[in-house]
Amino acid sequence: MSADTFAELLAERQVVIVCGTGGVGKTTTAAATALAAAEAGRRAVVVTIDPAKRLADALGIAELGNTPTVIDGPWPGTLAALMLDTKSTFDEVVRRNATDNDQAEQILSNRFYRNVSGTLSGTQDYMAVEKLAELYDSGDWDLVVVDTPPTRDALAFLEAPQMLSRLLDNPIYKLVIAGNRGVFGVANKAAQTVMRQLARVVGAYVVDEAIAFFQSFDGMEKGFKERAQATLALMGDERTAFVLVASPRGDTLDEAHYFLDRIREADLDADAVIVNRMLPATGLSLQQSNALHSSLAADTDAAGAAQALLDLVTAAAADDDRVAELSKAAPLAVLTAVPLLADDVHNLDGLRVIADLLTR
Ligand SMILES: Nc1ncnc2c1ncn2[C@@H]1O[C@H](COP(=O)(O)OP(=O)(O)O)[C@@H](O)[C@H]1O
Ligand SMILES: [Mg+2]
Repeated sequence: MSADTFAELLAERQVVIVCGTGGVGKTTTAAATALAAAEAGRRAVVVTIDPAKRLADALGIAELGNTPTVIDGPWPGTLAALMLDTKSTFDEVVRRNATDNDQAEQILSNRFYRNVSGTLSGTQDYMAVEKLAELYDSGDWDLVVVDTPPTRDALAFLEAPQMLSRLLDNPIYKLVIAGNRGVFGVANKAAQTVMRQLARVVGAYVVDEAIAFFQSFDGMEKGFKERAQATLALMGDERTAFVLVASPRGDTLDEAHYFLDRIREADLDADAVIVNRMLPATGLSLQQSNALHSSLAADTDAAGAAQALLDLVTAAAADDDRVAELSKAAPLAVLTAVPLLADDVHNLDGLRVIADLLTR
């Protein structure tokens, strides 16, 4: 079932995942999407990732990061925003999944954990997904909008739910745990050899901490796996919409085609494609602006202006052609064009302009 308009998508879905390469306007679009939903009367929350400082200030999340801040305004629904804090989200995940307080504390105070929890590759994607699941499960929101970390790989996000359960499925982890559990046996010997070699490279202390870290997860694997499965199901079915943000120019357009391919490889479809920063429509055709340019050739002042107009119309026509290509690559998606605004979008008024353009 595909929606006909972006407004329809916002009315029907419970989760919107905004993807695209860095710099295309992902964070702006995610925030404007939540605002549009609030304007349509829904309780909407947006998870932003590193918003520009002025936007974070406007959303009231510059200081309070990791829990939703409600933003007051003249909309019938609710608008809330938060800024993802990878480290605190990881801590919350550990606390929620630990069998008791001692286990949680043991992990949280582990030096290996403290080093990896903010830096392990894929952690930011994983924590964005965890935050999404937490907000969805709370029942407090009709729509959860998620801005995704800037990455070239759309699948990083789609695979994120399995990150921890994969880590715990890792042969090295199994070896370490098996090696430390059993006093006898092959696994133990193999594990010791691996550990000795590893210790030579990274230092015995790090290895001990890593072993302690993995051991302290004992008993939590099942919970992580179940959570991953539930979240994958949520992201894969009709409750969730994937929105791709692209720019009509240059490399980012190639990236958009690449994203669409990757999303399709994961057996998903983009539900909407938003082409951001379109050049403004002049209402003139290429032919008309060419004619204007020729007729004004004699007048130096006017010819300069006519040339500028011709350049703009030519560039806009090229944008249109590239957008048509993109639309062909995502035939089921709602295509929405958002023009380049005169100013960047750093406050609620700016977001309302984008929200109106998205749902008009
Ligand atoms: N349609 C637009 N017109 C003008 N400025 C825009 C538009 N969309 C986004 N911007 C500005 O571009 C910059 C990058 O946008 P942002 O949403 O942070 O991108 P991303 O999250 O993809 O890196 C911001 O300063 C934002 O205000
Ligand atoms: Mg961003």
